[in-house]
Parts: sequence; C-alpha cells; structure tokens
Amino acid sequence: MSLPTSTLGRTGATVTKLGYGAMELRSSRLDPGEVNRLLNAVLDSGINMIDTSPDYGASEEHIGRAIAHRRDEYFLASKCGCPVGETAGADGPAGREHVFTRENVRAAVEQSLTRMHTDRLDLVQFHISPSPETLAEHDAVAELIDLRDEGKLRFIGISGTLPHLPDQIAMGVFDAFQIPYSAVEREHEEAITAAAQAGGGTIIRGGVARGLPEPRADYPERYKDMIRARNERFEETDLSDLLDGMSEMEFMLRFTISHPDMHTTIVGTKNPDHLAANVAAASNGPLPPQIYAEAKRRFAA
Ligand SMILES: NC(=O)c1ccc[n+]([C@@H]2O[C@H](COP(=O)([O-])OP(=O)(O)OC[C@H]3O[C@@H](n4cnc5c(N)ncnc54)[C@H](OP(=O)(O)O)[C@@H]3O)[C@@H](O)[C@H]2O)c1
Repeated sequence: MSLPTSTLGRTGATVTKLGYGAMELRSSRLDPGEVNRLLNAVLDSGINMIDTSPDYGASEEHIGRAIAHRRDEYFLASKCGCPVGETAGADGPAGREHVFTRENVRAAVEQSLTRMHTDRLDLVQFHISPSPETLAEHDAVAELIDLRDEGKLRFIGISGTLPHLPDQIAMGVFDAFQIPYSAVEREHEEAITAAAQAGGGTIIRGGVARGLPEPRADYPERYKDMIRARNERFEETDLSDLLDGMSEMEFMLRFTISHPDMHTTIVGTKNPDHLAANVAAASNGPLPPQIYAEAKRRFAA
C-alpha cells in the first residue's frame, strides 16, 4: 500500500499526506549514521514533504548531510524570522525572540540554503504566527518575494494560529499555511478549511499530538503542560469501541488525515520503528467517515 497524496494548494506540488517534521533532529549530538539511516528511510518510504526551521538546532545541518544528494525527491519547507547564526545544536524548539526585518528574513533563507546544501527552498514560512501588522512594519513579505524572484525559494507561507490566522489568509499572499490540528486540538478545524478555500496549501503540525506518551523531560515546561492537557483530553474520551484493532497512535494520525482540507501532516520522530508505524497507519488512509464523525462528537462532548 502506498501513501495517499494531495495537491498542496496553489503550489501545485503533489505531497504525501504524511510528511516528516524534522524538529526532533535538533540535537547536534545525534549519531550521524543513525540520522542518515532515518532520513533516507523517510524518503525510501515514499514521504516527499520535509519541514524544518533555522531554530530547530542542528536539524537543517542533519538534512544537508544526510539527504542533500536526493534533493529532487522532496518538497523542502523551512522558516524565517528565527534567530540566525546561533550555534547549531542549541537546544529547544521555537521560543526565543523572532525578528521579521528584511535583513533577518534574508539571513535565515541564506543560512538554510547553506546548511541544507541546496540552491533552493520549496517553501519558506514566517515562523510563530506574526500578525499582518508585524509583517507590514518591516516589509517582510516583500523580502520573501525578492528572494523568490532571485530563485532562492519557490513559495511563501506562514505558520499561522488564531487569532491572526483569518487575517493572514485575507492577506492573499501566502501559498501555504502551517496549522496545528489533531483529535485533541481542534481549535483550527474551520480555519484549515478557510485556508484551503482561499487556495492555500495546508500543512498540519501536532497531527499525532506529540505522540501521546508523557512529554520528554527536556521539553520546556509550557510544552509539557500543553502535551499533558492534550493527553488528559484523550484519556477522558473513551474510543475503545472505535479502534477496531488500531493502535491509539494510528487512530490519532488517521483522524488528522481525515480532515478533508488538510494536505499534509508533518509528523516528527527520530525512532525508525515509529516512522514505519506512521507510514503504515497513513497508508490505511482516513478513518471511515462514520468513525471520524463519532470521534469528533465524543471529543466535543
Ligand atoms: N510552526 C511551528 O511553530 C511548529 C511548532 C512545533 C513543530 N513544528 C513542526 O511540526 C513538526 C511536528 O511537531 P509536533 O509538535 O507536531 O510533534 P508531533 O509530530 O505531533 O509529535 C512528535 C512526537 O511524537 C512522537 N512520535 C511520533 N510518532 C510516534 C509513534 N508512532 N509512536 C509513538 N510516538 C511517536 C515522537 O517521539 P519519537 O521520536 O520517540 O518517535 C515525538 O516526541 C515538527 O517536527 C516541526 O517540523 C512547527
């Protein structure tokens, strides 16, 4: 069975509904051989969508080392507005100050190109959901358009959340939106549809709700709290009669890809067995419509 695909909105790119989120590769201390095997297994499994960011530590450098030679096999998305020039491997996901000046936007793109040994990024997304006012203050979109005209990137996107997302969609400049969504985090369900109806590609993060198990000890406290809250929501909802042999992870992933307007979900893992399980789950496609509807009803109750 192969992975289902969709068209990433007006980018026209065909992407697998299961993508790979490379945030888990932020440590510079990961064994290069293991990272090599993992990222090549991602591509060998048929996944053709990879998301990373300048502020995921060593993630971009791992991608450059392991799979730059297979660059034509994946749609490569990174971000901008993040701190630039930080030591690779500096731990932790986003959270440090983001700056949307033209200089910092350009510096991020140039750095991503160098780190990932490529001459083009398929998509560059403004990170941490800046408001249209923040972007306008620095003329940040114009810088990405200049970089696109120079051939350094192909499409422009934004990592968007409420309350700014409707205004970001209304700007009409974004080819793709990165939005959180899962069975236990449905706040953006309608906004995903709005983004797709406006012609944007929709890239879902949080699609397996961070794997459901207890958050890792090295996560920042606010992430741990968020994960525990989602887990509680999951535990409070009895799905046992809906699982029909599926693991909870498979159920969560297939719930996410059941959203009719989601184009790809970028699930992160550095465990090859989890990667294989996610590929198998996504290959089974969306949940049957009545199960998706019933799960939504129970999570809403
Ligand atoms: N735009 C933003 O602001 C933003 C913020 C956060 C993330 N992102 C992007 O979104 C991607 C996804 O991040 P996320 O926060 O949404 O996390 P996620 O992909 O929902 O979950 C990742 C976690 O789930 C675990 N996991 C994955 N598959 C599993 C399986 N089959 N069984 C058990 N555990 C499993 C992973 O641990 P193992 O390594 O042990 O498998 C990891 O701890 C990131 O990589 C990044 O590219 C963007």
